[in-house]
Amino acid sequence: MPLIRIPPGWELPERLATPEAVYLNRRRFLKQLGAAGLGLVAGPALLGAEEGAALYPAKCNPAYTLDRALTAEGVAASYNNFYEFTTDKEAVREKVADFKPHPWQVEIRGLVNNPKVWDFDELVRKLPLEERLYRHRCVEAWAMAVPWTGFPLKALVDLARPLSGAKYLRLVSFYRPDEAPGQKWQPWYSWPYYEGLSMAEATNELTLIATGIYGHELPKQHGAPLRLVTPWKYGFKSIKSIVLIDFVAAQPPTFWHTANPDEYDFVANVNPAVPHPRWSQATEQLIGTNERVPTQLYNGYGEYVAKLYS
Ligand code: MTE
Repeated sequence: MPLIRIPPGWELPERLATPEAVYLNRRRFLKQLGAAGLGLVAGPALLGAEEGAALYPAKCNPAYTLDRALTAEGVAASYNNFYEFTTDKEAVREKVADFKPHPWQVEIRGLVNNPKVWDFDELVRKLPLEERLYRHRCVEAWAMAVPWTGFPLKALVDLARPLSGAKYLRLVSFYRPDEAPGQKWQPWYSWPYYEGLSMAEATNELTLIATGIYGHELPKQHGAPLRLVTPWKYGFKSIKSIVLIDFVAAQPPTFWHTANPDEYDFVANVNPAVPHPRWSQATEQLIGTNERVPTQLYNGYGEYVAKLYS
């Protein structure tokens, strides 16, 4: 049974990473171009060109910068994990063709004062969007650095007004086998994809709900229209295309832990000292380059999150 697969080799043609200054200049240029520019880079906008241009690019939050070059947009958009479609990372961007992430609803329910089924278009306008440059470390030992646009998950938690008994968030992705062929041909997985965070993790300042990337809304392969981003954890925690956030009392089961409890745990914090049972986690390959660099504890975000685990 294939699990998260280690690629046989670094098959991507070498492309240069995008230095931060080049990206930020291009961003200013796109802002000036407005709707026309958005159409050029993002393909058909989910919100419609006019609305998308009003939301993106969002103001960049300078508190979250990088110690490495940004991954080139084309590299990040052509090397994806989205098992609902395929396990072939380079084919995801084509296999998502029939996926319809608009219109979209997200349900907030469980131990909250304010349960609600949100229309995504309403939600994305209600919460303050900002851009943050984050590292991303997959459990398979590849890594990238990308500009996400989104809002802190804490803002959504505050809107939901959790009851005192709510200790965890259970996040669930969509189930649409007719649009996502991988949900049909991999019946051994317990679809839909589901993940979980403790309340302290969900409300940590780093935890984002991303609605955009590289200054425009999320393309389908990155988890349109909204996905989780927890940069100190292995990438499989960053559940894509969320339809449900359930506030619960007990630690919820998760997709990968259910599939293989010996290899994937609930917490899944990046830790170079703890090898995966089948490979080392000491270093990581920066996609789109020939560089392999040491992996950092909590993916380098210890100052924000180490206190959660002491
Ligand atoms: N979310 C869903 N619904 N399905 C998936 O297969 N894969 C995870 C995560 N979120 C996955 C998912 C894994 S293993 C990683 S590394 C990241 O998405 C990859 O995100 P990216 O393709 O945007 O780089």
